[in-house]
This record gives sequence, C-alpha cells and structure tokens, in this order.
Amino acid sequence: MTAVVDRNTIRKLPAMGEPLVEVKDLQKFFPIRGGLLSRVVGNVQAVNGVSFSLRRGEVVGVVGESGSGKTVMGRTLLRLLEPTGGQIIFNGKDITRIGKSELRDYRREMQVIFQDPFASLNPRMTISEIIGEALQIHNLHPGKARVERIAELLTRVGLRPETMGRYPHEFSGGQRQRIGIARALAVDPAFIVADEPTSALDVSIQAQVVNLLQDLQEELGLTVLFIAHDLAVVEYICDRIIVMYLGKIMEIAPSRELNRNPKHPYTEALLSAAPIPDPTVKRQRIILEGDIPSPINPPSGCVFRTRCRYAIPECAMVVPPLLEVSPGHFKACIRDDIL
Ligand SMILES: Nc1ncnc2c1ncn2[C@@H]1O[C@H](COP(=O)(O)OP(=O)(O)O)[C@@H](O)[C@H]1O
Ligand code: SF4
Ligand SMILES: [Mg+2]
Repeated sequence: MTAVVDRNTIRKLPAMGEPLVEVKDLQKFFPIRGGLLSRVVGNVQAVNGVSFSLRRGEVVGVVGESGSGKTVMGRTLLRLLEPTGGQIIFNGKDITRIGKSELRDYRREMQVIFQDPFASLNPRMTISEIIGEALQIHNLHPGKARVERIAELLTRVGLRPETMGRYPHEFSGGQRQRIGIARALAVDPAFIVADEPTSALDVSIQAQVVNLLQDLQEELGLTVLFIAHDLAVVEYICDRIIVMYLGKIMEIAPSRELNRNPKHPYTEALLSAAPIPDPTVKRQRIILEGDIPSPINPPSGCVFRTRCRYAIPECAMVVPPLLEVSPGHFKACIRDDIL
C-alpha cells in the first residue's frame, strides 16, 4: 500500500500531528413534520453544537450511551448527512457546503467502516465488485491493476485473494467486517470513521478486528474517529476520548487521563459500569437511573442534569461550556467542587 511519505507530496496533507479535521459547533437536526400541512413541528436535536479537532495520525474514540448522537455526528462529519449548522474543515478547507463534484475528491480522503457488516455489503455484488466500486468512482488502479489492488487489499485484511469472486453471504461476520475495512481502505484515505466496527460481531472475534484496525492505522498513518460502546476497547486503542451525551460533548481527555481522572459526572458513571483492568483501582458503581431523555425536547441548561447525582438548581439555568481543566482535558460541567 502507499506509504505515508508519498501522500504528503502527492496530496499535501498536513504533517503528522498537525490538525487534519476540525469540527466547529456542528449541528444535525432532523425536522419532525406534523398536521395536515406537514409543517415542521419540532426537531430531533441529534447533534447540537459539537466542537473538536483531530490531528493527523491520531486515533480518537467517541463513547456514550445509545442515542447520544455518535453515529449521526460521524456521518455528518463525512457529509453523508447534511449538517444543519456549524463547520467541518478538512485539511484546511471548509467542506461544510461544497458541492457534489468537489465533495467527491474529499470523499476519497474520508471513508467509513459501518457498524453492521451484514447490512452494509450489497448482497448482489461480489467482493471484487464491492471493493472495486470506490476504485472505479475515483478512477484509481484501472485495468489489470485493479484486480491486483483488490487482491492486495484482501491479503492485507487477512482474507484469501481467491475469494474475490464470492458474495457476502459466503462469509462470516468477522470476515465481512474485514471486507468492509478493505473497501474503506481501497482508495487510500487519510481519515476513517469507524462506527462501532465490532459491536455486531461475536465477542471471540472482536479483538481480532480491533487488532487489525490498529495495525492498519499504524502502518498507514491513518487518522481514525473510533465510535464505540465499550470504554475498555477505546481506552486500549485511542489516544484521546470524546464522551457524548444527548448530542453534546461532556468531556474530552487523553485516554488514560479520562479513565484515571474523569472530571464529568457522566464519564464517572460510564466508567463505574465498565470492568476495571487495574485491580488497585477501586470504583463505586453508579447507577444511571432512567433512560436518556428525548433529543426532541432536551433538558434546559446541562442536558445531563436529569440523571446527574450532583445536579444543583443552577444546572438548569446555564448550558455548561466545554472548558479546559488541565492541558488537553476538557469538561462541560459547571461544578468544580465534585470530581
Ligand atoms: N434519520 C433520522 N431521523 C430522525 N432521528 C434520527 C435519525 N437518525 C438518528 N436519529 C436520532 O438521533 C439521535 C442520535 O442517534 P445516533 O447518532 O444513532 O445515536 P448513537 O449512535 O449514539 O446511538 C437518536 O435519538 C436517534 O433516534
Ligand atoms: S452541570 Fe450540573 S447537572 Fe451537569 S454534569 Fe455538572 S453537576 Fe451535573
Ligand atoms: Mg450509533
């Protein structure tokens, strides 16, 4: 596969460690229509004012309960969903509103690995057609070179090249996710959003897929946004972690720091439910009562306040800004006297 050095000269990506993706106040609302005139009567506020940046070569995890807005955020960031507000800057260029043809060039740099390898592979296409599709769209590796490229990709993800004429149903879940990874990597992207890539797989094969992703990330110098349900997985492979709740960022910190020294009550509760690899660390289990509130009518002030054990009346009044509490560690909570 193309080495990291080559793409710097070809596509002028920033140096490793420099900002590659910047998200500013990103919003994605889904209008709810009602009545005879089908007027907009409300909005699902799936992502509501999210800001962060990713440095080239960095792996950043996104965690939060189901319904927090992780998937919608990842897709909006890639412009697979149209943003309602805010800005997405890729490699210094604002891509929030660019048109289809210009977007195509950026699509090559930004790929997605989907959560469900059963639903995301077209059952009527062979593996070589599935992987070759993106190469065709971007006119890469034409003619004979295309078959070679597909074979190379299959080998790289641990599948035999002879299987390229087969259909998705002939593969296991883990193998299908390997095909999904090969498809994402086919166009040699700089940035990957991996949306819970292992949560549909058997526990026994999840680690294999995570290890494969980690090897590929290191080898290719990829920048990865790794959406996950499981805090243990993200702590292991991510440099930093973003904690989301009800469409907003609650906390961002380096992985180890987040795990050892959480500063937001929501992170504290999530961690208390996760298994602890270090037996010297003792944690009290905090039960998060009730479900995540509806994003159609989120709580005023701090969106977490209806489930927060530290909530005070002021929490209903102000939306806590995401502030830096120590270098690289940000939290959105008005109380500094609790954690
Ligand atoms: N197409 C859509 N139309 C309306 N609401 C949606 C749509 N997609 C997602 N949502 C809502 O947006 C919220 C965030 O969803 P999602 O990003 O899938 O959460 P997560 O990935 O964290 O589980 C949820 O309340 C979900 O029901
Ligand atoms: S702002 Fe208030 S409700 Fe929100 S997390 Fe902090 S203490 Fe809890
Ligand atoms: Mg999701």
